[in-house]
Amino acid sequence: MPRLANLYFKTAIIFLIIGIGMGLKMAITEDHSVIGAHAHTNLLGWVTSAIFGGYYALNPRKAERRLAMIQYYIYTAGVAIMVPALYLMLLGNMAMEPIVGLASIVTFIGVLLFAFIIFSGEQAATTVSPAPSR
Ligand code: HEM
Repeated sequence: MPRLANLYFKTAIIFLIIGIGMGLKMAITEDHSVIGAHAHTNLLGWVTSAIFGGYYALNPRKAERRLAMIQYYIYTAGVAIMVPALYLMLLGNMAMEPIVGLASIVTFIGVLLFAFIIFSGEQAATTVSPAPSR
């Protein structure tokens, strides 16, 4: 598996652990005020990162591109800043609001870069298994 795909999966599982931690905290305390932070940690942090990692695993040549690593750092930084800022904002710390906004834009730039990588012309180097011999 390409290094970048592995890195995305490692990042994704950390977000899932944090996201589930928030979910359990909500369930135990019966205070669901951080529901938005929980949902975004799981969906942007776990699900989307794992999908990005899966794409790079299937397209190892694209994973080798410098732009792919830049995309990883931008996207992951955006989510990693947005999640705690959103969590604190939902607990009433409104000073976090501009940070949530800025981090959301950084995250979106990461998504746009990923779209560019998908659509850019480089031929994907997917591995095709040989047909079974009889
Ligand atoms: C053990 C794991 C988890 C626990 C304990 C948990 C717990 C919770 C709780 C207590 C709520 C609030 C429900 C409400 O107020 O109506 C919630 C909402 C939510 N959770 Fe989780 N969750 C877990 C895993 C996940 C995962 C893996 C995802 C996504 C991949 C996820 C996505 C969401 C979403 C999108 C909502 C908002 C639902 C809505 O607004 O209707 N959760 N979760």
